[in-house]
Amino acid sequence: MRDVPANAADEPVIRVARLPDLTPIVGIYNASIPSRRSTADLEPVTVESRTAWFVMHAPDHRPIWVADLDGEVQAWLSFSDYYGRPAYDSTVEVGVYVAPEAQGRGLGGRLLEHAIAAAPALGVRTLLWITFAINGGSVQLAHRYGFRRWGLLPRVTELEGERKDIEILGLELDRPRPTD
Ligand SMILES: CC(C)(COP(=O)(O)OP(=O)(O)OC[C@H]1O[C@@H](n2cnc3c(N)ncnc32)[C@H](O)[C@@H]1OP(=O)(O)O)[C@@H](O)C(=O)NCCC(=O)NCCS
Repeated sequence: MRDVPANAADEPVIRVARLPDLTPIVGIYNASIPSRRSTADLEPVTVESRTAWFVMHAPDHRPIWVADLDGEVQAWLSFSDYYGRPAYDSTVEVGVYVAPEAQGRGLGGRLLEHAIAAAPALGVRTLLWITFAINGGSVQLAHRYGFRRWGLLPRVTELEGERKDIEILGLELDRPRPTD
């Protein structure tokens, strides 16, 4: 899929990530760790430790997209294997992270919209969204685009002594979207 051109001066372009984007991608990810509601990582990760992850995300199979405003990456979204066995190939897990200063401005939604539109050409039929149940912004964003709760894993994570539920939301792209 082609990059989406900016349609206003201050609108980010959504494009496939390139290797130099890995540094801001990691920076945005690390900024989400202290909230203890975005990721199960407890310590910052390094660019080096994420290079193999980045390279595995081939643009024609499991892309990473970034929202780029004047050369600055403000947010990113990835399609990752949910389970690395061939029968799961048409199912991906979505990850989305927006820089703290850019949150609440619809960037997560724009990236998700772009990814949903690109999915059929990538052979993707089912999207999974795995999130801390207490992550209101994450659950709300997924819901807005038609994801619904498919499962709840009670108290499977422990962050600073607190056991937290993980919610699994799903969206089947070749079925009518739920309207409830
Ligand atoms: C969660 C996240 C991706 C949402 O992206 P965003 O660009 O900030 O969100 P949007 O501006 O598109 O808003 C999405 C919706 O969530 C709502 N929302 C935002 N923050 C919220 C919060 N803390 N609690 C409840 N709802 C919230 C918005 O009002 C909006 O709802 P609406 O569609 O009814 O208007 C972003 O905040 C983020 O990157 N957070 C840190 C990383 C993270 O948690 N990623 C998800 C990992 S599973």
